[in-house]
This record gives sequence, structure tokens and C-alpha cells, in this order.
Amino acid sequence: LLVLFCLAVVSASGRSYDKYTLIRTSPLSFEQALELRQWENDYDFWRPARSGLSTDIMVGPTQKLYLSHQLTRLGIQFAEVIPDLGKLIKSQQLAAESKRSYGRGDGRINFDQYYSHDELNAYIDDLATQNDFLSTVSIGQSYEGRDMRVLQITKAGPGAPNIWIEAGIHAREWISPAMATYIIDSLLNNDQDGFLDKLNFHILPSANPDGYEHSRNSDRLWRKTRSNYNSILLCKGVDGNRNWDFHFAESGASNNKCSETYHGPEAFSEVEMKNIRDYVLSLDPVPVLSQCLHSYSQLWLWPYGYDYGAYPDNYEEIRDLAEEAVKALEAVHGTVFDPINSADLYPAAGASDDWYKGVLKSRFAYTVELRDTGRHGFILPPDRKSTR
Ligand code: ARG
Ligand code: ZN
Repeated sequence: LLVLFCLAVVSASGRSYDKYTLIRTSPLSFEQALELRQWENDYDFWRPARSGLSTDIMVGPTQKLYLSHQLTRLGIQFAEVIPDLGKLIKSQQLAAESKRSYGRGDGRINFDQYYSHDELNAYIDDLATQNDFLSTVSIGQSYEGRDMRVLQITKAGPGAPNIWIEAGIHAREWISPAMATYIIDSLLNNDQDGFLDKLNFHILPSANPDGYEHSRNSDRLWRKTRSNYNSILLCKGVDGNRNWDFHFAESGASNNKCSETYHGPEAFSEVEMKNIRDYVLSLDPVPVLSQCLHSYSQLWLWPYGYDYGAYPDNYEEIRDLAEEAVKALEAVHGTVFDPINSADLYPAAGASDDWYKGVLKSRFAYTVELRDTGRHGFILPPDRKSTR
């Protein structure tokens, strides 16, 4: 009864992260990284444990002492980088309340705030009514029935190369849908390179609508979808980026329904991922570039990610373009991104980028991990979105 009561309280008021802390370790040795990866079901790792680098671990007030003992035992130094996540989340919620919601019909969006799934859909629908080379299509509904809408920018006309952009598979990475809208806005209002005359774009700003709304309204750090596979511990959802049918479940994913990286009962168990798959398979020509937007860490990841040393045939041109991309990016605001093979970050199978490369056969496929490098992590303030 007490448990049920607590669950009811949590679901009514939203999950609290009061006194939750973000811990950053010192750079890990190979052995330390290996050991920490065993803990992935016990803690929420905001960045993967990888040898040579530090990692970020979120910890609740009751786990903190135990975690510090464990880290000390392994000879790992650590510091509290965000002392109270609950406080940070609340201060941003307060700041967000003073912002104006999206004005339906105007097709104008700000880049100093985050928008809801419905607002994102309304924004692209409004753009489509204002412009004859823009249209929106529904690619299906989410598990909880939200409409998944893609903006099509087809000024280049039939037969021109297609670009596919997918954002928001992970619910708490709010910068990712926001970046999708920033890309749309830049293409429409600042297309200095004339991309629109050469390429057609298909952009999905919100690939996990249920998770995103859950993160906005109930649990800021929610990552997965919101489907239900009858976990005895009542855990919900699947990691949409472990649910794709290419080397499914072979690495970096969990069969524990409570894990943040639960791969689901089978590949494409998640209706959102199925909707995306069916849409991109219908595109002709096959997208020359499939681009996934995530956060955080400032990385430009190239495939494959399912295993060390597994590279596509044309990996050299894929890698070279990643290197060019980060140079171009740095030239704008001096922000540094690291172009690396995604398995070198940590092998994780069933991600959409691998499927876009290995099954769909896009010539180029990337996952970008957007800002920042861990000062705010997932709780990136909206004013850090635009410049600087
Ligand atoms: N942060 C992303 C994730 O964990 C990275 C995915 C990279 N791609 C891959 N195939 N491993 O889902
Ligand atoms: Zn992600």
C-alpha cells in the first residue's frame, strides 16, 4: 500500500530530483571503465564510461554515500558538478513559465525556449501553409496516439538527392528537437549556400513524442518511449535507439525492462521506430544523408556503432565528411566537436544511424551529440541554444 501510495504521489506531482547530484569522475583507466560499465543498471550514466575519459553519473541522495565508497575502492577520483539537479530543473521550469507559447498561425519560432510536441507540429504545419515547396505529412501515431509529422522541403524537385533528419529519439535531449527547428529556420531564412535548390529535406523534429511530453510534464530526465511490456517493477518504455533491426541487441543494450537502454522485446517493437522506418523506406532516391540529432558531449559520430572495427565500405569518405563538418561548425562560434567512430565511444547496437547505413544504405549517416560537454548536460538552459 505504501508503495502504491508513493507511486501515486510521484505520478501526480512529477518526479522530483531534489538532492540528486551529477558526479564527474577523473579520467578512467581501461579496467576502471570496464568495471563501471557493469553498473549501468544501477545508476543513470549521463555519459558512457570510456577509458581515457571522465564519465558523468547521476546519483540520488540515498545512493550517494555508497557510490562514493565504490568509486574510492576503485581508485577513481570524483567531484560534484551539479550539486542539486532538482533545483536546476525547477529554476528552468520557472524561467520557462514566463515565455510566450508558440503563436499558432504565424510560423515564427524563438530560439530562447523549448517547445511542446504540439507546438513543434503546429510550427511546421504553419510553415507548410505559407510556402508552396513546403508540406507536412503524418508518418503515423505514437504509442499514446500523438501525431508524428515530417516537414518536407522539396524546392529542388523530384529526383534531387534526399536528406533525412531525425531528432528527439531520446526524450530528455531537448536541444535535439530545438536544433531540428533551427536547421529548418536556417534553411528557409539563411540559405547562403543554396542548399534548397540542390537537395530535398525531410525533417522529423520529434521522434519520441510520448517520451518528450513525459519529460516536459512529469520526469525531466526520462529517455525512453512510454510503451508497456508488463514489467513486474512497473518500468515503462524502450530505448528507441536500441530498437532497430541491424545487429539488434548484440551490444550496449539491456534486456532489463527497467534499464535506460532496454532494447525492447524485439526489433521494431516500438511503433514510433516502425513509423520512421516505413517513411524513410518510401523515399526515392534513398537519402544520401541520414542525420540523427542527440545530446550531449559535442561529438560527430560515424558508423558503425554496433562493434569495434566494424566500418562501412565507404567509411573513409564518411569519416572525411565528419571531419569537414566539425571544422565548419567550429568556424561559426568556436564550438569544438570531436569526429569519432561511434563504437569507439562505446559499442551499442540497434541504433537508427547503423540501420540507416547498413539497411537503408544511405551514403552518409551520422549521429551528432549536441551541446554541451557536461556543465548542464541534459538540463541545457534554452539561452545556450543559439550563439556563443
Ligand atoms: N548517444 C547515442 C546512444 O546512446 C549514441 C548512438 C551512437 N550510435 C551507435 N550506433 N552506437 O544512443
Ligand atoms: Zn541520445
